[in-house]
Amino acid sequence: DKGNHRHFMAKEIYEQPEVVGHTLGHYLDFAGGRCAPDAIGGIDFASLDRLSITACGTAYYAGLVAKYWFERFARLPVDIDIASEFRYREQPLTPNGLSIVVSQSGETADTLASLRYAKAEGQKVAAIVNVQESTIARESDFVLPTLAGPEIGVASTKAFSCQLSVLASLAVAAGKARGHLTDVDEERLVRALSEIPRLMSQALRLETQMEALARDLAKVQHILYLGRGTSYPLALEGALKLKEISYIHAEGYAAGELKHGPIALIDENMPVVVIAPYDRIFDKTVSNMQEVAARGGRIILLTDPKGRDAAAIDAVETVILPEMPSTITPLVYTIPIQLLAYHTAVFMGTDVDQPRNLAKSVTVE
Ligand code: F6R
Repeated sequence: DKGNHRHFMAKEIYEQPEVVGHTLGHYLDFAGGRCAPDAIGGIDFASLDRLSITACGTAYYAGLVAKYWFERFARLPVDIDIASEFRYREQPLTPNGLSIVVSQSGETADTLASLRYAKAEGQKVAAIVNVQESTIARESDFVLPTLAGPEIGVASTKAFSCQLSVLASLAVAAGKARGHLTDVDEERLVRALSEIPRLMSQALRLETQMEALARDLAKVQHILYLGRGTSYPLALEGALKLKEISYIHAEGYAAGELKHGPIALIDENMPVVVIAPYDRIFDKTVSNMQEVAARGGRIILLTDPKGRDAAAIDAVETVILPEMPSTITPLVYTIPIQLLAYHTAVFMGTDVDQPRNLAKSVTVE
């Protein structure tokens, strides 16, 4: 049932404040401003010297965001791999390491094979899964559910934000367990995370603006997405979402990589979506935007009021999100990114919920 939405994807985008609230509420004690230790079921973060996170597609991008969080909050080094590479690379896994696999369906062949590889190497495996009766859940030592409910649209939306919710909660729990976060830090972070559902609801009000921007994007052949820090994986996710449902060629890049190649592509026919909340590296991204503007590239900037004032570049279309702590920006900025892809696909007239050549669950490699 799509409710009063045209597509499951739209319905699932709109469900995010609620399902993200449920998922965060499962892993965090909002009232107490603490992590809920029972929810992570015995993972001993203090004894770990390394994490490896493995997944495919959108779930991999959730893992890539989490690398920044685990390294910053818990000083825990993270290897992040695409499952189809991890399973064949024959990398050594340290005895004090933990493997985390991330999968909506819990049936993705390469992710399952990675889980089995890690177990055969003697590691414990924690699975972040949406389908709790899945093979991946069954074969894992620790099961950390995302409470997204069934996701019907082939393009992942609410599963992604729920994966981020679990990973952010885990990173805070790890930081606490490893003594890198104080009680005060923990409380501040839990409070910030508890604001996400409200901020997501505000971000959903950007739909009309995203639809207007999508009307123009539906006319171009190529789009570039740029971001730094945790906005870099979000740039990759934005490009994936757009290409899979609109069939427009899109690429995501770390903004600092622009001058190492992709800048050669920039001209007036190449829109560039820049994801840049105002943070300590904002100025670096502004210089990348100046490089794009100087070559006639059209910029769509996703930022906040401070970012708008600080950017001071002409000919930028700006999408303004509320100000928020930098930890939580990936969860909130994903909303306009999803809406942009969704409306572009609707203008293109594609089968949004069942894009060509794609399956919801990829059980063969
Ligand atoms: C993109 C998308 C895919 C999946 C990937 C992993 O929107 O849906 O990239 O994220 O196939 O699937 P799961 O999470 O089921 O392992």
